[in-house]
Amino acid sequence: MTSEATEDMWLFGYGSLIWKPPPHFDLRVPGYVEGYVRRFWQASEDHRGTPEAPGRVVTLIDRSHWNTLTDQHSDAPLQTWGAAYRIPGPHVAEVREYLDIREINGYSIQYTPFHVAKEFAASHNLPAPIDCLVYVGLPDNPQFMGPQDLETLAEHIVKSRGPSGENKDYLYGLDQALMELGEGSEDEHVHDLARRCREIESRSSKDAGKAADSSVIGSELKRVGSTAEQEEIEK
Ligand code: BEZ
Repeated sequence: MTSEATEDMWLFGYGSLIWKPPPHFDLRVPGYVEGYVRRFWQASEDHRGTPEAPGRVVTLIDRSHWNTLTDQHSDAPLQTWGAAYRIPGPHVAEVREYLDIREINGYSIQYTPFHVAKEFAASHNLPAPIDCLVYVGLPDNPQFMGPQDLETLAEHIVKSRGPSGENKDYLYGLDQALMELGEGSEDEHVHDLARRCREIESRSSKDAGKAADSSVIGSELKRVGSTAEQEEIEK
């Protein structure tokens, strides 16, 4: 075993890793990175969709690249919140292998400074900032979708599912996990998409309710009709 293999590794999660931790971490730290913008611009063929019908998950876009794009969510916070995990040295190889299998669909590895949330830093003695490994879906990966129309994206998320479950549950889980990280950790892009998806779901359950009501009314009418018919025959 090399000496590198026994060094601890820090991993930054900005998507499902926030609420679905890797195996073998000994510390989870809330905080943020800078210089990126989180967007639901990565197609998911292996977790929240399938190769035939890919879902949508988040990636990080380098802010200098994002500035050249036209995005309907034209504001983005300077800080991208998430959670950093400290992986003890003896488990690094296993966790890397687990993550490569679990997450690598189009993502590349980068390293970025991570800033500990101030409420957490006050009670823990940690380096500042912490150099973290992060998986980023770069613009040249085949799953990178680029800017999306928000309502179309929300509709797509509502109808997608894959081996890890419903795409909308990934979005709702991320929205909830982000709100719990610290002061200012909410992400408007994620929150607005979650709001749109809930509206789409509630519209479609109202439509389904109306369709069910009209079929009940239809069958009542049919029954009334058939009783009348019967009375006619009996007379
Ligand atoms: C995450 O932060 O949850 C994550 C995002 C993309 C690839 C791997 C992990």
